[in-house]
Order: sequence, then structure tokens, then C-alpha cells
Amino acid sequence: MSRWYFTELRQAVRNLWTPQPHYTESEYPDLTSKTFVITGGHSGVGLAATQLLIDKGAKVVLVGRSREQAKHVLDELPEGTYDFAEADLADLSTIRSAGDYIVNQYPEIHGVILNAGIAFKPYSLTPQGHEYQWGTNVVGHHALMKCLDPAVIKTAHSSAPGSVRIVWVSSSAVIISNVPGGINFDDMSYKESQPSALQLYSQSKIGNAYQAYLWSKNHPDSGVVSVSVDPGNLKSNIGRHTPKTMTRAFEYLLYPSKYGAYTELAALLAPGVEDGDHLIPWGLKGHLRNDVDEGRRGDKGEELWKILEENVKQVGM
Ligand SMILES: NC(=O)c1ccc[n+]([C@@H]2O[C@H](COP(=O)([O-])OP(=O)(O)OC[C@H]3O[C@@H](n4cnc5c(N)ncnc54)[C@H](OP(=O)(O)O)[C@@H]3O)[C@@H](O)[C@H]2O)c1
Repeated sequence: MSRWYFTELRQAVRNLWTPQPHYTESEYPDLTSKTFVITGGHSGVGLAATQLLIDKGAKVVLVGRSREQAKHVLDELPEGTYDFAEADLADLSTIRSAGDYIVNQYPEIHGVILNAGIAFKPYSLTPQGHEYQWGTNVVGHHALMKCLDPAVIKTAHSSAPGSVRIVWVSSSAVIISNVPGGINFDDMSYKESQPSALQLYSQSKIGNAYQAYLWSKNHPDSGVVSVSVDPGNLKSNIGRHTPKTMTRAFEYLLYPSKYGAYTELAALLAPGVEDGDHLIPWGLKGHLRNDVDEGRRGDKGEELWKILEENVKQVGM
């Protein structure tokens, strides 16, 4: 294992036993008249974050594949506190209409949590030909942000400095990718030879950490704080593509999904969070794998941004 992985490894082990949450609901500000967008806000960590935001008076716009399938969850949320925009992040052709709906209905957006994610899915391609986990977790979120950018930036310009934020949900799985810099630029969708689903998940979560930095780099003077988070090891539906025996074996190592929401909401709301930070459980500033951090700040980052822009241009965005 390379020298630079040791801090990350220590951090990943720390996730198995993490002290009390750092920043919780008693410290959140009143969020009345604020609007937040959260992808995958009807399940697991995203649902816990949605509930915490609603409890503080916020309006939450959830982005998800199917309102019908989320209905049983949405029915439990207080009426008038949420909205739902349908988009399948794996299919870029579905994202524009959701994005347009959101910015037309909510011209002010005070924060975005790019929380939706698919993990450990066996190799397959999205309709646009991206490896599925990469296409969903990275390219889909890039496309959604293209729609939300103007509203988020406009809101930041009329809000308290540093208060409007974008949170890109990464993972301690960034440690897994064995590619220097974390992303296989030679064959990003691994069309030549397919690695494990875990390697592919890792690459996508590294992609999210790149995006946190690159978004700000490519929107200078936006006034928006863009950060990545490793939410922790959490009970949720993320294991849907793993064998049940494995999910059960690991369950005792997992924390309630609300703890992951504490990490996401510390990134979204806590004082002192700065552009480019990487937060770890439960809301502390952490360390991002060195070669990933160097990659996103250098030529690899430049290259990824160009590729993502090209990807969304191909669907007219
Ligand atoms: N749980 C953990 O231990 C852990 C650890 C590290 C990082 N994370 C990250 O935390 C985030 C939240 O995951 P979770 O643990 O809460 O898992 P989860 O319960 O499975 O929630 C994932 C959410 O993403 C949505 N989603 C998946 N594919 C989508 C698509 N193509 N289009 C739109 N939405 C899609 C799901 O919607 P559907 O209901 O439509 O599938 C669901 O709402 C993910 O980014 C994950 O990578 C989780």
C-alpha cells in the first residue's frame, strides 16, 4: 500500500467507532424561508437529512427517480414542507426537465446536497454509455448542477458570505481505487476490462471529491462554498446490490443513517466550513487521499471538467 494511503486508512478505521456527532440539530439555525435541494432525499441518509432540514423550517426539494415509488416515504413528511422533482441521474435525458422545474419554482436555492448514489452495482452502462455508477454518481450530478448553478449563485450573491453551499457526497471508499489520482482517464468507463464493482464505486466517489473542488474552480466569484463529505458507515439501502449475507454480516458495524445526515448537514450549515473542505464523520474536517487531492487541483482535474462538460453537451445541456 502506498505511503499516502495510511492517513486515509486510519480515517476509514476511525469510521468503525466514531465519537459523538460534532454538530447536531440543537445547533442548526432556523431555516424558515430557505430552500434546499437534495438528491436521493427519500431514502437512507438523504431522508434523515431531509427530515432534519424540515424540522428547522426549511423547504426541501427532493430529486429522485420516481415520485410514485417514494410515495410511502413522502406521505410521512408534513404537507407543504417538500417538493419532488423526477429525474433518473443515470439517464442524462431526464435531468433537464427536473432542473428547469426546480429553478422555475424555486428561484432561490440556499444549498444543495448531491447525496443520491448507487453502489457495488455489477458492471453495466447507462443509456449514454457511461459506466453505471460513474454515470449516476458523477455525470448525473454534473448535469443537474448545470441546471441549478444560476439559481444557487444568484442566491449566494444575496446571502451571508459562505452560507450557500454545495455538498458532494463521497465515501471512505475513495481508498479502494488502485489508479494513481483515483480515476482511470485512459478508459473511464472500463470498456476494455472490467474491475470489481467496488473499484467502480470507489472511482465514482473519487469523482465526487474532484467535483467538489472543480465546481468552485470553474465558478470563480460565485460566493458558493463547495465541499465533499464521507458520511460514515451507515444503515441504509445502499447495499441493494450486495449479497444479503454480506449486508447482514456488516450490519453491526453500521450507524443509524441520521449520523450520516449529521455529517452532510455539518457540511451544509456549520460555521467555519470552507470551500474545498472534505468532512468526515460526524461533521469534522478530514483528510482526502493525497493523490486524489493533488489530481483534482492539477491537470487531471482540468481534464475531468472538460470531459464532464462534453458529456452533458452531448445531450444539449
Ligand atoms: N451507507 C453508507 O454506509 C455510505 C457510506 C459512504 C457513502 N455513502 C453515500 O451516501 C449517499 C447516500 O446513500 P445511502 O447510504 O443513504 O443509500 P440509499 O439508502 O440507497 O439512498 C440512495 C439514494 O440515491 C438514489 N438513487 C440511486 N440511483 C439513482 C438514480 N439513478 N437517479 C436518482 N436517484 C438515485 C436512491 O433512489 P431510489 O430509491 O430510486 O433507488 C436513493 O434515494 C450515497 O451517495 C452513498 O454513496 C453511503
